[in-house]
Amino acid sequence: MASTSSSFGAAQVLVASNRGPVSYEIQEDGSLRSKRGGGGLVSGLSAIGPDAGALWVCSALSDGDREAVRRGAGEDGVRMLDVPADVHADAYNGIANSVLWFVHHMLYQTPLEPVFDAEFRRQWASYEAFNRAFAEALAEEAAEGAAVLVQDYHLTLVPGMLRELRPDVRISHFSHTPWAPVEYFRMLPDDIAGQVLRGMLGADRLGFLTRRWADAFTACCEALAGGLGETVVGVHGLGADADFLRKRSREADVDERMAALREQIGEGRKVVVRVDRTELSKNIVRGLLAYRRLLADRPEWRERVVHVAFAYPSRQDLEVYRDYTAEVRRVAESVNEEFGTAGWTPVVLHVQDDFARSLAAYRLADVALVNPIRDGMNLVAKEVPVVSDAGCALVLSREAGAYEELGEDAFVVNPYDVTGTAEALHEALSLPDGERAERSKRLAAAATALPPARWFLDQLEALRG
Ligand code: G6P
Repeated sequence: MASTSSSFGAAQVLVASNRGPVSYEIQEDGSLRSKRGGGGLVSGLSAIGPDAGALWVCSALSDGDREAVRRGAGEDGVRMLDVPADVHADAYNGIANSVLWFVHHMLYQTPLEPVFDAEFRRQWASYEAFNRAFAEALAEEAAEGAAVLVQDYHLTLVPGMLRELRPDVRISHFSHTPWAPVEYFRMLPDDIAGQVLRGMLGADRLGFLTRRWADAFTACCEALAGGLGETVVGVHGLGADADFLRKRSREADVDERMAALREQIGEGRKVVVRVDRTELSKNIVRGLLAYRRLLADRPEWRERVVHVAFAYPSRQDLEVYRDYTAEVRRVAESVNEEFGTAGWTPVVLHVQDDFARSLAAYRLADVALVNPIRDGMNLVAKEVPVVSDAGCALVLSREAGAYEELGEDAFVVNPYDVTGTAEALHEALSLPDGERAERSKRLAAAATALPPARWFLDQLEALRG
């Protein structure tokens, strides 16, 4: 347990998130193999350089991670917290992913959900313990006056807890999700809603991906917590990493996967691409239904288009996600049964995570379909125009954060409107090559306005004041 006064740690910049930048696998011979993840935070943090005294505090999520903690074998600059498995399961699966994620993405389905009962209270106690474990580790590791950047809905209580332990440090919290409107947020029991808001308001600065989510948070604070107090709210719209994507998508493994995909697609056909985690909020099933509508109502597209849909496994501990994954497969198969011919498979669905194959699909895309019910930003919408070889048209949900930056050059849809989405697909597919390339260029420029390194440094500079 850290004390408020005595020993300080050594880290000048600390990032805290549930999922960290690296994970470990136990090999057959007992050794550990590490795998580095990608994403905005990873490239952002590397931008401050190896000598900046940075430390990333995250959860041990896999057996390999826990083994790395036990052996003290983790890499420098990363501290994994091995909280008891049941506490993590309650905090992560129970509260973070089944309650807070559902609230911010407005995913509950009355009359069955939500139910806040004794089981919820038990899980909430684990969420508090999980957040406390992070706050204590950060308090131990932070140098005097350090900058601590806490991430996402898993860790909403950390800023308040850390503030009590270490009044000297500068604290920010960044939400990578949308923020719910007041009417939806206050579904949470009043005391819990208050804890979440006050926990976050323990930070000096709060960051959101768009003005819309920042305003929703501010409205919740005004309605339920007596305002923002001293905390400053900022908007930092994370963009795509153009340099990395352009380089990575030209490597040999991507070429190989392009050849394999071309084989599956067939000569001379247009390609509609989507790449998502198999995530309820991504609205994959309605996307497939819209594609079916397109083939039903616009027979001229039959044999002339293929929908390449990658839906990678996610949160499979939750039954509702497993069911959703099965539903995605079922609907994709039924479209193929209904319309497929000997030489044409209308939907090419892949469910095995493969980054090189995603980039290959990006390169081949004529149209990107991004139709989430709600999404903090959605980086796929920003990445495809950067990578696509011939330029792509974007069918984009107005409920994605990316809409605020890309809406002008996209075919904008209401994600619930399957007919409207089918029509948008038709328009996007019908765009003449030249116009599509022009639009794609403008989309790529808007999508890369704030690259991850700048996004991260902006927040750090703002926090240090
Ligand atoms: C969203 C969240 C992230 C999370 C990611 C993957 O983007 O904002 O915090 O890491 O989903 O979800 P997972 O549950 O696999 O970490």
